[in-house]
Order: sequence, then C-alpha cells, then structure tokens
Amino acid sequence: MIYLDCAATSLQKPASVRYAVSDAMRTMSSPGRGGYESAMAAAGMVLDCRTALADMFCVSAPERVIFTSSATHGLNIAINSLVKPGDRVVISGYEHNAVWRPLYGRGADIRVAASQLFRPEAAMDAFRRLLPGANAAICCQVSNVFGYILPLEEIAALCRRAGVPLIVDAAQAAGSVGLDFDGLGCAFAAMPGHKGLLGPQGTGVLLCREEQPRPLLYGGTGSVSESVEMPDFLPDRLEPGTHNVPGIAGLLAGLEWLGRRTPAAVLAHERELAAAFCDILSGSDKIRLFRAADPSCQAGVVSLQIKGVDCEEAAERLAARGIAVRAGLHCAPLAHQTAGTLRAGTVRFSFSPFNTFSEVRYAAEQVLSLGV
Ligand code: ALA
Repeated sequence: MIYLDCAATSLQKPASVRYAVSDAMRTMSSPGRGGYESAMAAAGMVLDCRTALADMFCVSAPERVIFTSSATHGLNIAINSLVKPGDRVVISGYEHNAVWRPLYGRGADIRVAASQLFRPEAAMDAFRRLLPGANAAICCQVSNVFGYILPLEEIAALCRRAGVPLIVDAAQAAGSVGLDFDGLGCAFAAMPGHKGLLGPQGTGVLLCREEQPRPLLYGGTGSVSESVEMPDFLPDRLEPGTHNVPGIAGLLAGLEWLGRRTPAAVLAHERELAAAFCDILSGSDKIRLFRAADPSCQAGVVSLQIKGVDCEEAAERLAARGIAVRAGLHCAPLAHQTAGTLRAGTVRFSFSPFNTFSEVRYAAEQVLSLGV
C-alpha cells in the first residue's frame, strides 16, 4: 500500500518508536507513584520527553508541556480554561471540528475570520477586523485539508497588540513547520503526538502559558494527595490519572528521530513530494488542484477534485489500486465552507518523510486515470 494519509495519522514510523513502546511496556510502570526502579524509569523517560518537546517548541519550562491523549483533548482543555459561555472568540476560516465543536458546546459567540485560501494578507486583515473586543482567538498553523500555512506570527502579533489570548492548533504543523511558543506569546498550543511527531496514536501535547489553567479532568496525580483540589502547579494540574507511558516512550523516540532528520528537512522533503505530485496533475483540465501559487504558503498536504468523479468514490477506487487517501470533509467543514468546497468535499493527499518520489508519481498517474 502507498500510504498518503499522514494528515490523519502517520502510519509509517521509525523502527525505534516500536522498540521504545515495547521496551516501556516491559520495564516502566507509573511515574510519580514510587521510588522503585520501574517507576523511576518511567518518571525519567516522561521528563526526557517533556524536555525534548519544550526544546522543540521553545517553551522555557518543561513543566508547561502537558501530555494529553490527542490534539482534540488539548484543545478542549484550552477552550475550557479560557472561554466562558457568551465569550466572543475569533477563529480562522480553516478550523477543524476539534475547535468548532468545543466552542459551540461551551456556548461561545464564535466569529469566523474567513479569508481566501492561500491569501495570508487576507487572513491577517480578517483577524485585524474581528479581534477588538474579543475574549480569545484560535488559529490553526496549517490547514489539515489544504496544507495552507496560515500567517501565525502576524496573527499572534495582532493578538498580543489587542490583548487577546491566542490558542494555536498545531495539529498539522508539529514535526515540520516550526513553532516558537514563548516567542509568539501564545496562551496554549495543542498538537497530536501521532502525526508529524511520529509517536503512537493516543498521544498528544498541550503547551501552556497559564499558571493556573482550569482542569478538564480531575483525579489522582501522585502529588498533594491529601487535598480535595487539583494541585495548583503544572504539569500535575492538567495530568490526572496514569500516564500513557508506552505512548510517551514512543513519542520520545519519534522526537529523537525528528531531531536527527530535523523538521525543516522533513518539510522540504514533503514539499518536494507535493510539488512532484502537483506537476504531474497540473496539465489536466479534469483535475482541480488546490495548490498555492507561493509554495511557502503550503506544507505537504494537497487537496483536489476530479471532474465527474465523486470524491468518496475516487478514494475508494484509489484504495482498490493500493493508494490510501482521505476524502470528504476531513472533520473540517468550516475549512471547506471557506474554500468553497463544502458541497463536494475534496480528495486529500498528505505526504510523510517516508514517502518516495516513485510512490507519489504512481499515485498521480492513478488520479489522472480516474479522470478520463
Ligand atoms: N484531523 C485528522 C484528519 O485531518 C484526523 O484526517
């Protein structure tokens, strides 16, 4: 199978990730629950992973790196902590349901800073117009549907100037597009461990500026057990229950692999794959490609439509030829609405460090053959 659905999860991981998961299951118990060897091994590994994440995302204190079960979990913590019912929240036009639904559930007054695809200036203008008087803002760094890299630095600067706390959804960016969390002054940034960071499913990370965020889950932390209240310090305040030790061990191995390869090199490779794929398809009048004119606006994710072929059917036919892609709305109806693809959806191709040019060429040829 040619796996081109890395925006859903990265299936191909470094072998070291599998070994780390299996080794942790054999040798590590629960961090913070004892001074014996297996508990201390778990505690040491969890701290190493926290520190590696703090280094990668420019967070000055590792305790402000919180382990979650997914980016969705982290976004729910951030929204629950910052947003009260009735609060005005400005979001980009490319947000995922992991942002849209918790905001709706919280009763927020949601204002969409909609702007044309691959038009960073328009995105900045839309935020500039809506930020005055807002209680919070949320912006994805990279659209999971179109690979559009939003102008996060500029949007963060607008938020700082307006005094509006910013939550970043780094789900599609982490592992390839860099994030300077402290430098941008973000309130929170959430990301999965299982996509670009190459860890196992069930891992996620929340970077947290607030010292006293509101917990989403309450329970045992192995600290201040005599109190009925959650600890008033991080990371314990946001990490009740037993940690996903094998998952975090796998995530650490993924981070180590990425550290050697470097996220910048991963982004360059994924962009080259995307360019090779688009170059083959761009001559066809049957294919509508969502490709940025300025390549610096797009990461390694490409959406397309094939004239006369329903996108779900296209994905099924590609699957029958051994190509794994995701079609439809990609849990991001707002992004499709903003880009004008809500009715038909798109077929999405998302590339990883492990994909090769020959895989991508074969996939493009198969797409071409569906359109005739
Ligand atoms: N958000 C993930 C995707 O885009 C699951 O497929």
